[in-house]
Amino acid sequence: MLQPVIIALDFPSKEDVTSFLSHYRDERLFLKVGMELYYQEGPELIRMLKERGHSIFLDLKLHDIPTTVHKAMVGLSKLEVDLVNVHAMGGTEMMRRALEGLEEGAQGLRPKCIAVTQLTSTTSEMINHEVGLSGTVGDSVIHLASNAEKAGMDGVVCSPLEVPLIRDHCSPSFLTVTPGIRLDTDDRHDQKRVTTPLDAKRLGSDFIVVGRTITKSENPSRTYQTIMNEWGQTYERASR
Ligand code: C5P
Repeated sequence: MLQPVIIALDFPSKEDVTSFLSHYRDERLFLKVGMELYYQEGPELIRMLKERGHSIFLDLKLHDIPTTVHKAMVGLSKLEVDLVNVHAMGGTEMMRRALEGLEEGAQGLRPKCIAVTQLTSTTSEMINHEVGLSGTVGDSVIHLASNAEKAGMDGVVCSPLEVPLIRDHCSPSFLTVTPGIRLDTDDRHDQKRVTTPLDAKRLGSDFIVVGRTITKSENPSRTYQTIMNEWGQTYERASR
């Protein structure tokens, strides 16, 4: 069963990852590998983490023409990761082709694929004045999440604050994976729309993504346990 708390391994090298993971003994973790790390260490790192028994969310946020995304997904699927993602802004055809690529490359069950709606660092002001979209971040999230569901995506990445909106507009089995998590005592860094793990759970998130709160903690193992405890042991949605 996948753990509900996904740790974002936002590190520059394999050595940093190994040193971070030395805080965890035999625990099987759900780890997110993003651009910073994957562009340096590539598939070899994924194989190492999988050999240690961890689950992997490969967070590369693909966004390109449908054929390119399709071909990239065939390759990523062969790595037997558990979760991958694309930008919903790439459109429904791109999302459909991503899923086809994952099916094609999978050895068994294909990795789940979720769509990024709006990044948790985005504000309504940014989408209005810089991107040129009208409406609020919430409007855009609903629109993009509905497109993602139509294209067959398994869920979305969004802020926990947007989960109730997603629940109102998408089916109950549509997964919500939510970054932008901070403990009450934390620095927010560049995240604009944050909640605590407990609030994320109350709002209906299926999985939370936690980076700096754990990775920059003086005691990463204890902070992870605090968050897991805050989330609670009885976790039903992840077992679907
Ligand atoms: O350190 P922090 O907890 O803010 O890290 C959040 C992680 O989630 C980062 O790796 C970031 O790239 C990722 N993420 C995000 N917002 C999204 C999608 C992914 O913050 N919409």
